[in-house]
Amino acid sequence: MSPIPGSSTTSRRSRHDGGGELMVVAIDGPAGAGKSSVARAVATKLGFTYLDSGSMYRAVALAALRARVGPADVASRVSIDVGERVLLDGDDVTAEIRSPEVSEAASVAASLPAVRAAMVVQQRRLLGHGHWVAEGRDIGTVVAPEAEVKVFLTASPEARAKRRADELGIDPTTVLAEQAIRDQRDSERELQLQAKLEQELPIEPELERWYPLWDAPV
Ligand code: C5P
Repeated sequence: MSPIPGSSTTSRRSRHDGGGELMVVAIDGPAGAGKSSVARAVATKLGFTYLDSGSMYRAVALAALRARVGPADVASRVSIDVGERVLLDGDDVTAEIRSPEVSEAASVAASLPAVRAAMVVQQRRLLGHGHWVAEGRDIGTVVAPEAEVKVFLTASPEARAKRRADELGIDPTTVLAEQAIRDQRDSERELQLQAKLEQELPIEPELERWYPLWDAPV
């Protein structure tokens, strides 16, 4: 496979599944940058399985809203199946997890270390078998630092808000304002995560070499 422009291609650790070497393509970046569209297209083109890690945080958030408990209380108990449809304990929640209420709750859920730890365990288990294109904001750094291909995909705040607003059929100005709050929370969390990782793990210089791939016009 030829490398995706702007990605860093590294081969740190070969993983084998039966006869062949496994490959993970990690596509990281902020919400609304177009990760899903790119990841789906790349997965289809390569014949790899697509992992939308955000849908797992959304499913945990929905489970917590339904049970009226905190997300950390349900994260390691719920069964989440991600594929064409997202199943939460067997219930098809593909549409419901896209509501604004769940988006907000997912962002809060994703800021909780216990929730992240439970999701990372599940995601690593999935990625241990087969070829994957996995998207999220921590796939290349935390979930699969050994991924063979890493892409950091971003876009301007306005372009991201417009994409989300088009998807949801709502006003881009509202999305832009909410997105700014969510970005702030996400970046604080990422700084904390980075500090924790630096204490606990040697950071490979390779991980620093991420490039913006695509700044989509509005
Ligand atoms: O990408 P999506 O909007 O579906 O993600 C839902 C929420 O989960 C967002 O707040 C996003 O920042 C968070 N998330 C995360 N880590 C991931 C995937 C998503 O914190 N790997």
